Amino acid sequence: MPPSEQTYRSMTDAYAVFGNPIAHSKSPLIHAAFARQTGQDIRYTALLAPLDGFRETVEAFRDGGGRGANVTVPFKEQAFALATRRSERAEMAGAVNTLSFDGAGILGDNTDGAGLVRDLANNLAIGLAGKRILLMGAGGAARGVILPLLEQAPAALYIANRTADKAAALAKGFARHGEISGGGYDGLPGPFDVVINATAASLAGELPPLPATVFAGGALAYDMMYGRDTPFLAFARSREARTADGLGMLVEQAAEAFFLWRGVRPETRPVIDMLRAA
Ligand code: ATR
Repeated sequence: MPPSEQTYRSMTDAYAVFGNPIAHSKSPLIHAAFARQTGQDIRYTALLAPLDGFRETVEAFRDGGGRGANVTVPFKEQAFALATRRSERAEMAGAVNTLSFDGAGILGDNTDGAGLVRDLANNLAIGLAGKRILLMGAGGAARGVILPLLEQAPAALYIANRTADKAAALAKGFARHGEISGGGYDGLPGPFDVVINATAASLAGELPPLPATVFAGGALAYDMMYGRDTPFLAFARSREARTADGLGMLVEQAAEAFFLWRGVRPETRPVIDMLRAA
């Protein structure tokens, strides 16, 4: 390698996304596009962490000069434990998707909820203030977005889960942050203006047990999954609801992480368009 390239490489800040599996991650593509667009000198790679070796893999990356990392399935809870300081939204989510290595400590944040809210507000023109929202699921994906949703001051946020007790307990934990309740799918207090699918049902090609009356007129159905049509979105279309998949959220959560690391907010629209076209 010529000396000039070596200097250039050593000055480039390194970031990575850790997951298992990770090969199909779109994050390197997204962050490379952000870096080009904003003129930021960064390198961003996808790294596979062994299921029993997340901490060691991240620490080796940090010791090698890594400046920050994104974390995806199944390591968000382990990333939470690895962080030495955490944002409130990460604390409430019980999960971390963004790590910043600054000096001695590791700052843990969770940009998933902000990504969802930005996708809804900026790309889909859905303001949440005063709206009735149904969030389906009570796992990590749901937990990650509750606080940012409540911060938009919806009229009501209802968490529905197959295992009703889990949703009720989750809602209770967030009660001081806004108008929130939770339970099963029976007797849902609908209709809702925004219905968000944060369950793993779409992965299995299944539809959560929703009543036909769940959508208010002009409602938006949002599936956090992207890259394929889901039974939930098909159901929503059959009820004449607007639909959106999670691609915008994916890009927006990445933009939020990029902003945390670099202090620059990239334009997301061209990157969403690029991924849609690909
Ligand atoms: P994640 O971290 O992606 O949220 P998780 O913690 O395993 O994954 O949570 C998966 C969520 O999807 C749970 O809320 C689960 O409901 P249960 O708590 O009752 O298991 C929900 N889920 C999975 N398959 C589902 C299906 N076919 N219909 C409805 N909900 C489903």
